[in-house]
Amino acid sequence: MRKEIGFFDVFRETLDKLDGDGILLVAGDPPNPMTIGWGTLGYIWHKQIITVMVRPTRYTFNLMENIKDFSVCVLPDQFGKELSLCGNRSGRDTDKLALCNLHTEKCFKADAFFLSESEIHFECRMVHKHPLDPATLDPAIIKRYYPKRDFHTVYYGEILGIYGQG
Ligand SMILES: Cc1cc2nc3c(=O)[nH]c(=O)nc-3n(C[C@H](O)[C@H](O)[C@H](O)COP(=O)(O)O)c2cc1C
Repeated sequence: MRKEIGFFDVFRETLDKLDGDGILLVAGDPPNPMTIGWGTLGYIWHKQIITVMVRPTRYTFNLMENIKDFSVCVLPDQFGKELSLCGNRSGRDTDKLALCNLHTEKCFKADAFFLSESEIHFECRMVHKHPLDPATLDPAIIKRYYPKRDFHTVYYGEILGIYGQG
């Protein structure tokens, strides 16, 4: 059983985990989980928006380029090993769900899947995307994070629903 949760009730836990062991971006059909550590939650266009950033080298990038809907899943504390695996192995050659013994269910509002094990999951519909523009990016950030010039694409997901364990 999952219950809908309010936007303001999930900020602390989601952002703490984003900056900790990470959270999972789940994209595609069949779904592939990828650990993310960077993103934002806020209001744009009078909508609740989550942004996620994906480098073009990720398998998830190919998935994100071909879908509208995706989910973002926050796992309970004891899932550090799974988050590490999903952040170091690629869906190109590994069934990460099977490897981590994670399970998926169809989203309620989005045409996507979420992880049954999540403590919180966001159902999202892409409303905008853009690759970072090195011409306007702080050179110190380029030097530190993009020595290979593999600039992230930023995906803006309108939050259709936020759910937790009932
Ligand atoms: C804690 C952590 C946070 C990460 N955050 C991101 C991120 O925000 N964006 C990104 O493109 N890759 C990020 N990565 C790297 C991807 O998760 C990793 O390259 C993964 O293997 C890609 O999976 P895929 O090829 O199945 O898409 C992160 C990895 C870890 C361990």
